[in-house]
Order: sequence, then C-alpha cells, then structure tokens
Amino acid sequence: MSTPLHVAFVTPEVVPFMKTGGLGDVGAALPKALGRLGHRVTIFLPRYAAIGFPPGAFAGSVHVPVDAVHRSAGFYRRELSENVEVVFVEHPPFFDRPHAYGAGDRDYQDNRLRFAFLARASIEYFRSRGERPHVFHAHDWQTGLVPVYLKSFYWDDPTLHRMPTVFTIHNLAYQGNFPADTPSVLGLPWNLASGDALEFHGGVSYMKGGVMFSELVNTVSPQYAREIQTPAMGYGFDGILRSRGADLSGIVNGVDYDEWDPSVDPLIARKYGPQDVVAGKAACKADLLKTFGLAQTPDLPVIGIVSRLVRLKGHDIVADAWYDLLQRPLRLVVVGTGEPAIQEGFATLAERDPSRFAMRFVYDETLAHKVEAGADMFLMPSRFEPCGLTQMYSLRYGTVPIVRATGGLVDTVEPYQASTGEGTGFRFDHADGTGMMWAIDQALALWKDAPAWRKLMRNGMSRDFSWGRSAEQYVDLYRRALGRV
Ligand code: ADP
Ligand code: GLC
Repeated sequence: MSTPLHVAFVTPEVVPFMKTGGLGDVGAALPKALGRLGHRVTIFLPRYAAIGFPPGAFAGSVHVPVDAVHRSAGFYRRELSENVEVVFVEHPPFFDRPHAYGAGDRDYQDNRLRFAFLARASIEYFRSRGERPHVFHAHDWQTGLVPVYLKSFYWDDPTLHRMPTVFTIHNLAYQGNFPADTPSVLGLPWNLASGDALEFHGGVSYMKGGVMFSELVNTVSPQYAREIQTPAMGYGFDGILRSRGADLSGIVNGVDYDEWDPSVDPLIARKYGPQDVVAGKAACKADLLKTFGLAQTPDLPVIGIVSRLVRLKGHDIVADAWYDLLQRPLRLVVVGTGEPAIQEGFATLAERDPSRFAMRFVYDETLAHKVEAGADMFLMPSRFEPCGLTQMYSLRYGTVPIVRATGGLVDTVEPYQASTGEGTGFRFDHADGTGMMWAIDQALALWKDAPAWRKLMRNGMSRDFSWGRSAEQYVDLYRRALGRV
C-alpha cells in the first residue's frame, strides 16, 4: 500500500457539532471514511457557542493576522474516530455566537473576517508546530481563502512550502461575495484583487479564491460538475469553472450507514432490512402517522419531505401545486424550516385538509429519521441539487424517491422502467407543477401494484452509497494534487 496521507480538512460544519445542511454530514462522514482507509485527518472547525468550552484538550495558541487588530486563536483537540481528530479553533469575538453564518436571512456583518480567520488559523496551527500535512482540503466559500493564504504567505515557508489544496464546492449558490476592499483589509498582496484572482463583479469572492488557487477542484456529483460549467446553472461562475475545467471533477457524496440504515437505526419504531421491509415499514408508517396526528389508514400512501424549505429546493412548486395535491389520493408530511412564503403555502395546505397534510416547521433529527422510515415516497423537487443526501437515505429505507432530474439526483436515482421493473425511483425534468405531478401520478399508479412496488423498494435498498468508494476517489485527488507542486 502506498503511504498513508495526512489531510488538513478545513470546514465550517461537522456533525454533531454544527450542521446547517449536508455539508455538516459530509464534514464528519468523509474524514471517518478516510480514517478507515488508514489515512490521518485533522479537521478544523470554529468553536461555535453551541460547542461549549473547553471543547477538547488545549493544543496551543497562535497569533492570526487577518486585519489590523491583534487576534489570537486557541486550539482544542479531540479524537473523533479512528485516525481522525478535530481541532476546534477558538476566537470568542468571532465564533462564540449561536449560529454559524448569521441569524435567519441576515448574515453576520463580519463573515469575511471570521472565515479568513478560520482559514489562516488552520494553516498557522501547523506552522507553529513545525508539522507538515500532505494536503489541505477546503470546503465551500467559508474556506476559500485557504489556498489563497498558502500561495501568498506560506509558499516559501520552511514547514508549509508548496502545500497543495483540494477545494470542494458543495453549493455554488453561496459564494462568499464581499466588498472590493477586502484584500487590503486582510493585508493580502494587492494583485489578488485582480480578475484572474479574487475579483468578482466588482467585489471579491472567497469561492473564487478556492476555485482559482487550488491545485484541484471538485464538486459533489459528476452531473453537477457538468451543470455548473453552463451559464444557466453556473451562478456567474461558469466561465471561471470552464477555465479550470481540466482540473474539475465530480465525486458523489456517500451515506454514513452507521447513522442512516433502518437495520440499525435507534430512532425508528421498528428496525428492518430488505427481507422484512413490508412489515418494518408498516410499523414505522403507523408510528409516523401517530406522530403527525394522522389517521391510521395504511392504504393511503404517504409522501415525505425533509428539507430546507427554500426555492432552490423547489418547495414553492409543491406549495403552488396545492390544488392538484388536494385532488390526489395521497398524504404529505413535511419536516423543514425555511422561507416564510413557502412555509405559509404548506401551512395553507394543512389547513385545507388536516386529515391528510401535516407540517412540522422545525429542525428535528428524530422526525427526519421517522419520515425516512415511515413514508412510502420521498419528494425532492429541487431546482438544483449539487448532490443531495436525503434521496440516498430514502433509498436505503425503501422509501421511493420522486426527484427532479438535476445534479446529484440524476447520478443517484435511476428512473423506474415499467418494461423491466428496473430502476429505483421517479424523475421529472420540468421544475413546475405539471412536471412534478406527472411523476407523482406515476408513483401513485405503481403503488397500487404491490409486487411491483416491493421490487422497486428492494432495488433502492440494494444500492450501495457507502463512503468507502467516494473516499478512495478523494484520496486519488489528494495524490494528484500532491503531484502538482
Ligand atoms: P442541503 O445540504 O442542500 O440542505 P442535503 O440533502 O445534502 O441538502 O442535506 C440535508 C441534510 O439536512 C440531511 O441530513 C437532512 O436530513 C437534514 N435536514 C434538512 N432539514 C431538516 C430538518 N428540518 N430536520 C432535520 N434534518 C433536516
Ligand atoms: C450542499 C448541497 C447538497 C449536498 C451537500 C453536501 O448543501 O446543497 O446537495 O448534498 O452540500 O455536499
């Protein structure tokens, strides 16, 4: 076996310490899978208020120059899993706050400093210890300055010289765009403000920093990697990404089956596997109906949604299709929080027919598991979806996904073929009510054919999205990045 790697993994989210979406799941599960393969991972995560204090054993402190103020970072280490440690980066003025990025829709005003600090503190941790990892792996705009710092201040450093970076785009919709004076506030070389560096529409973008300064860039599915190079899906980044096209790839996220598998899940009413899926799901469905206060009528299918309720995820399409949904023989249970207009739309649906439509506008891990296990179908009408995790969870739980054909949903949900009985779910192309209802109607029709539906459930349950294979692809990226410097 070739030498094990030491990966410096910088991310703003790691389950169970901080999670606003799938990045939190990936921030824990990918390092764990890398550790299982024998590699060493040091994760860097801000010490947010929710993490408490002290979060681990004290591991030194350094001075981190990000702006004119003298700022120090404290480090606290904790083992997370085999070969994986997390280093909490402490700076109370920046991170001792209840949220990661801001309250509601309002971002914290100093995010450009907070995440510049995270990036530079992670680098300084190694420099101060005279320790050299093999590669940095940075995630989303929050860590986009990691390669920028490495290339501007540390390229000739005795310890960290010529340090490669792999940058992963989890969601291009959030770009870390800040005013044009940011490089000078951060004390970065003046030429970094230029168009082939950080400049983006008159300001600067941390996402662009990650894309332009890393040896290799990837996103979380091959389909999304293609889509973001087109003007329609590129969020203004398509040209930038095409310029890095040779170094841009897609790696589908995995599922942490220690957390998301009905045969071991402690949060559901009854554990089950492919052999006893019918009985298992019946018990979990009864429990779900009870939890949501719906009548115990097993012959009416339940569609589940667990999601951020935002336009990007297409939930306005669901809310707008209220009339069609009311007409169909189905029930809908929703667990999510998000845009007020969308929540109102869902609430109206529940008011129209509370016997069939039930909403919980909360973030609740237990409810999320109960929906995955107890629903018959799982709806993801996403306008775009870099990877998506919940459709892969659903497949494992025998809950048939109905998804819009975009991004990772294309790579992970195979359309049902009536002629052969092959496939794992239903896909639709058009991000509108007609497209969505077309797919829902197909699912409702097949649901009446119990043997065909059982086969469809088992097809999905047999698919393997465990992290091992994806982690190996990341190792491959790390080694290729190392070969570049
Ligand atoms: P994204 O990161 O874009 O939100 P993903 O599908 O990658 O989408 O990940 C979403 C994650 O967040 C999943 O683990 C899902 O179970 C979880 N999640 C989303 N909304 C809720 C909620 N209201 N309650 C509990 N978990 C939620
Ligand atoms: C982002 C994407 C989601 C993806 C997750 C983890 O939040 O919206 O599709 O699964 O990152 O990579």
